[in-house]
Order: sequence, then C-alpha cells, then structure tokens
Amino acid sequence: MIADRMKAMTVAWTPTSPNLVVAGDNLAVVKSLPSESFTLVYLDPPFNTGRVQRRQTTTAVRSGTATVAGFKGQLYERIKGDLRAYDDVFDDYWEFLEPRLIEAWRLLADDGTLYLHLDYRESHYAKVLLDALFGRESFLNEIIWAYDYGAKSKSRWPSKHDTILVYVKNPKTYHFDSTAVDREPYMAPGLVTAEKVARGKLPTDVWWHTIVPTNGREKTGYPTQKPEGILRRIIQASSREGDWVLDFFAGSGTTGAVAAALGRRFVLVDQNPEAIDVMRLRFADHQAPVDFTDAVTAPPAS
Ligand SMILES: C[S@@+](CC[C@H](N)C(=O)[O-])C[C@H]1O[C@@H](n2cnc3c(N)ncnc32)[C@H](O)[C@@H]1O
Repeated sequence: MIADRMKAMTVAWTPTSPNLVVAGDNLAVVKSLPSESFTLVYLDPPFNTGRVQRRQTTTAVRSGTATVAGFKGQLYERIKGDLRAYDDVFDDYWEFLEPRLIEAWRLLADDGTLYLHLDYRESHYAKVLLDALFGRESFLNEIIWAYDYGAKSKSRWPSKHDTILVYVKNPKTYHFDSTAVDREPYMAPGLVTAEKVARGKLPTDVWWHTIVPTNGREKTGYPTQKPEGILRRIIQASSREGDWVLDFFAGSGTTGAVAAALGRRFVLVDQNPEAIDVMRLRFADHQAPVDFTDAVTAPPAS
C-alpha cells in the first residue's frame, strides 16, 4: 500500500503545544497526531490532478483501533467500485484523498466538523463517497461559495463556484454556533423591519464572496489562496475560542491566519517549500507564537 511504503514520520505535538506549521507529506505527518484532538478540520486539496497512483484496495477502513463510524463496509466498497468503473481519473484522485479523509475522521473530536473544499468537477463523487464513509447522518451541509471573477464561457453557463462539503463526527454532539457568525446585509432590506436590517441576516448555505483581491491586504501571492472571509465563517461557526483547528493542505496558511485572529489554535501542514515560506512571512508578526518544523523520519520499529 502507498501508505505502507511511505516513511513513518513523527511530529512532537500535544494540545499544550504552540501553534504549529509542519513541512512534509500530510498523510505521514497527520498519522503521528493524537486522535480526537481537533474541533475543526478544513481541507482544500489540489483539484483532481489525475495523478496515477498505484492501485490500492481498501477492504476495511480502520484507523488504529477505531472503525470509522458510519462506514458501511461492503456498501462503501460497492459505491467506490461503481465510481471506479465510471471515472478512472476520479478514482486515482480518491485513492489519494481517501486515506487522508480517514485520518481527518480519526483526528476530529467527538464534537468536531470536517469542511472539505472541492471543485465542481469532483464534489458530486466526493459527496457520495463521504456519505458512505462518514455516514449519511453525519452530512451537515453542502456550501456553495459563489464568486464572479475571470473569463466566462460563451458555450455554457460560466462555472463560478466552489463546493464545500460539511460532515460532522457525531451528529448528536457536534458544535455549531450560528450566533457567533458575522451576519450579512439583507438582499431586499425594504421587505424587513429596520431592526432586522440593523442586525443583518444569518448567512445561508450559499455564500457570495469575492476571491482574494489582487492588491488587497490579505494577498500573499500564493496561487490557490482562499479568502479569509470564507474561513472566518467556518471557524466562527464550528469552533470555540481555544479550540484546535487543523488544515493539512495549508497552502498560504489562510486557516491559521483566521484561526489565530479568532483566538483558536492551529496545526498546518504543507509539502511545498514555497507554501512554508509564505506562511513564515504571514505569521512573522503574529502575537500568538507559531513553531515551524520539518516532519522527522521516525527510527525503524524494533
Ligand atoms: C489548494 S492549495 C491550499 C490553499 C489554501 N487553502 C490557502 O488558502 O492558501 C493545496 C495545497 O496542498 C498542498 N499539498 C498537496 N498535496 C499535499 C500532500 N500530499 N501533503 C502536504 N501538502 C500537500 C499543496 O502544496 C498546496 O499548497
């Protein structure tokens, strides 16, 4: 298996550590983090690259001693098999993503939530598979982030949205605080009371938000950087002050920047040295301390 061929790595982290940025392959890194430590996991993996991985057959989805709750065994394998027959490229992508999502599930606290940020070309497959992996009852939302930027196709409706799938670890105990979320202006303020206009409305599952402005304060120059406003809503709703937030496709570190601004703590992982350089700059004048480390290859098991 790919995971078995990979070098084991260790990261010295406990919930009493400072914020942490780790350089290295995320699967190897997150395997060394303790279970149930994070209230929120946000993942923004690169769009399906079609990278061909060596075939791996998952016959049981287990992580340590815990079985993934909601994992339906044969049902999941059957759905995966159908999708495999249908779309080779997605299949290769899922082989990459699946072990990482299983780790995300293991790392979520009982009240924790996963936000998986995807491109419209893959989100429908991922939703079917996540329903089977986390359990249909753990599905919370499909958020549409709509923006209006860049070239527009003339031969079909121009695609101007991303999809963020939201799954909770435990549908009975998950944390979600809508009162902590910044409210937004009413679209038709004339139709509601002045009091409501002043308070603003709770965002729905469709979020209109600009991309990162090219010359704005938050622009880091990292090509796939996501806007802080999107992460702000996610972190406000699905974590509390002092909670730990994990992003192991960290890129420019947007999740960490917003988490720190909101009084949360964070662990970020990225394998790209340019991402690590961008994060060093981004966190240089942060008040909360941030440690940077390379994943260390563990000594062979005796
Ligand atoms: C779409 S970008 C994330 C952008 C980020 N949300 C932001 O706001 O800047 C995906 C990131 O995943 C990283 N990545 C891809 N595969 C990885 C792996 N196996 N381990 C660690 N990082 C990986 C890439 O280097 C890239 O920075």
